Amino acid sequence: MDQKVASMSQDTNGAGASETWVVPEFPRRVLMDLRTDCNLKCPMCIVHGSTEDPKLKAFLRRSVPLDKAKKVLDEVMAARPMLQPNLWSEPLLAKDLRPYLQSAKERGLAVAINTNGLLLREELARFLVDIKLDSISISIDATTVETLDKVRGITKLEKIHNAVALMIRVRGENPLPRIGVSFTVQDTNKHERDSFVAYWADKVDFVRIGELFVDGRFPGMKVDGERRPCPSLYTTLALHVNGNASICCLDGFGETNVGNVFERGVADVWHGPELTEIRQHHENGEWDKVPFCKSCDRWASYDYEEAIEGEFLVRRSLEYTYYNRIDRLKNWTPDLVVDADAMASVRELAAE
Ligand SMILES: C[S@@+](CC[C@H](N)C(=O)[O-])C[C@H]1O[C@@H](n2cnc3c(N)ncnc32)[C@H](O)[C@@H]1O
Ligand code: SF4
Ligand code: SF4
Repeated sequence: MDQKVASMSQDTNGAGASETWVVPEFPRRVLMDLRTDCNLKCPMCIVHGSTEDPKLKAFLRRSVPLDKAKKVLDEVMAARPMLQPNLWSEPLLAKDLRPYLQSAKERGLAVAINTNGLLLREELARFLVDIKLDSISISIDATTVETLDKVRGITKLEKIHNAVALMIRVRGENPLPRIGVSFTVQDTNKHERDSFVAYWADKVDFVRIGELFVDGRFPGMKVDGERRPCPSLYTTLALHVNGNASICCLDGFGETNVGNVFERGVADVWHGPELTEIRQHHENGEWDKVPFCKSCDRWASYDYEEAIEGEFLVRRSLEYTYYNRIDRLKNWTPDLVVDADAMASVRELAAE
């Protein structure tokens, strides 16, 4: 049963005059890193981009034990949270990726993958279609080789394009997975944002444009209004390979340990004293008492506005813009988003 924890006055970002902060029985979204590794070193990446960071060496090439991961899935399955099999790593590198994804789908969870696409092969693509993976988003961040080199440190643009084309071909007439591409905006690629949307808009189901997280905040987000508790604390649990939960997914190296789900279970950590205290600080406006959150402005990025623009249902928050092809909404499922109630228009359009 959902647990009501506090009420507070709000007058910001469309949050309403008063809002109740509710901790559901289980998180609505679980992010679970499967292996701390990546085949790229994108300079923007807060984990793998910091190649000189001594933290990185201690962090690399560890895997989640499959039996322990399955126990987590067993515990949360009745609540059917959306699952993402990575934090700041490349999920296609995980050796147990297939049994893990299969286990998640057998337990009825919606699964969404973000990948750089470089390891996508025909057999894996077929497996993803066969298990009815819900969504795959391939991160590209550029329309030209020159810019790809700056943003992702590689020149294999054609190889990434081929991965998207492979996924689309192997899916064929099957509805799933939803296939999209992603672009994280930064100084080195911002001039290609519009051409990226234009190039991909008629090829995939969705195009995602996201703001860059740097130095503890999102400088590209224009935040106004009074600060409020961060919705992530009430929806999402971010798990590292050793079972430690972090305050949120922005903690790439797992420095804000709020409990270990392998030792205590998900429910105990989710409702435990560590996260409860952090939520209370947020509800009391005591941002100084949560150093990791102090300067972060992502709390403002969870409200979406929707608009129909030509052939697209465009969903915008301060952090993300999703261009969803209206004629490819039938494979969208409410399980794919945390706030499914906000998606009424998607459901209506998908039903048409
Ligand atoms: C961290 S990666 C992990 C999955 C996979 N390796 C990939 O690149 O898609 C997930 C997404 O985060 C984006 N990303 C990387 N660094 C970022 C940053 N500093 N701020 C915001 N997004 C970032 C990537 O572009 C990618 O779309
Ligand atoms: S591919 Fe993903 S995880 Fe790897 S360095 Fe780039 S953003 Fe980070
Ligand atoms: S305020 Fe930022 S750092 Fe804190 S939980 Fe929200 S997203 Fe994470």
